[in-house]
Amino acid sequence: MLEQSKRFALEGNPVTAVPYGNGHINRTFCVTTDTGRRYILQGINLHVFPDADNLMRNISLVTEHLRSRGASPVLTVVPTLDGRPYDRDEEGRPWRVLEFIEGGICLERAETENDFYQSAVAFGRFQRMLRDFPAAELTETIPRFHDTPKRYADFRKAVQEDRMGRAAGVKEEIAFALARESEADSITAKLKNGTLPLRVTHNDTKLNNVLLDRDTGEPLCVIDLDTVMPGAAAYDFGDSIRFGANTASEDEKDLSRVSLSLPLYEAYARGFLSECGEGMGTEELMSLRMGAKLMTLENGIRFLADYLEGDVYYSISRPEHNLDRCHTQFRLVADMERKWDAMGDILLRMKKAGT
Ligand SMILES: Nc1ncnc2c1ncn2[C@@H]1O[C@H](COP(=O)(O)OP(=O)(O)O)[C@@H](O)[C@H]1O
Ligand SMILES: [Mg+2]
Repeated sequence: MLEQSKRFALEGNPVTAVPYGNGHINRTFCVTTDTGRRYILQGINLHVFPDADNLMRNISLVTEHLRSRGASPVLTVVPTLDGRPYDRDEEGRPWRVLEFIEGGICLERAETENDFYQSAVAFGRFQRMLRDFPAAELTETIPRFHDTPKRYADFRKAVQEDRMGRAAGVKEEIAFALARESEADSITAKLKNGTLPLRVTHNDTKLNNVLLDRDTGEPLCVIDLDTVMPGAAAYDFGDSIRFGANTASEDEKDLSRVSLSLPLYEAYARGFLSECGEGMGTEELMSLRMGAKLMTLENGIRFLADYLEGDVYYSISRPEHNLDRCHTQFRLVADMERKWDAMGDILLRMKKAGT
């Protein structure tokens, strides 16, 4: 790795390169030079991101814009010695270097409601600062990532093919999914006809993709911009709620523990809207609630489809792992349907408080 890092325009000579962080997608190392400067060296996962040129282009465009709007610190790409945004090794794997952002901490999961709130502030700010960026200029690094109707088409195909002969055992789950198919285009159709604005979305709004200030606990910087794409604000809000406001983990077997925590939902809405609620129209505001439901439903049908296809996409550590995951997602969807009015009221209340 040390050799790899020498191909970049670093300050000083690299002396150590050690594996760093808990990312699951890329291979991440921390490189230190003889001047004491630190850098992040990352081998980009080609299976997930085959188009490194456009991926790095997205990151450059977004970070330049954030910088021009006064964000500090901002993720900063360090070019190769000959001025390119990334390098390729002998096997064709792309490598890049980022400036190490000092003074931050990275939490794997929210320990308190405040942690979750702070991540909402970070992603709400990200949303606000990129509001005047022409989102359509970005490439879809993972095409049709949140195209829920397309996810439904894939799901239907998995049911029809029934490769493992498992469909008969999950009739109820299939019925649950199909009963909600009419809602699948609630966001995509409005993006298409212009009722909802096309925004820059992060698409991986986990807590470990935000650096929090080590001293104050407040957001320092949003990182991991590989999945930045054009989309709806509701995607980022919704996915955060899906994994962060569930009272149980994604693969909990005891479904009685699964529910939407309204206090956590409210904390996220408060943080998110305190940053990007001002000037947000009612249509977009209320789409956030639909985003929470659709992101959860979408994950549920993807887990179910993978179960039907023989567990080929998500890694599993027990035979019915994907089915368990599908169950938690569907249980959460059902709970959101019960709490639908409260979810809407909270958004309206938080919006009012923030403007
Ligand atoms: N610029 C940076 N400064 C400091 N730490 C970073 C930086 N970029 C990434 N990290 C650390 O490395 C970890 C993995 O990086 P990330 O880009 O999130 O990779 P992955 O896509 O594999 O999740 C992060 O969770 C964080 O701890
Ligand atoms: Mg990450």
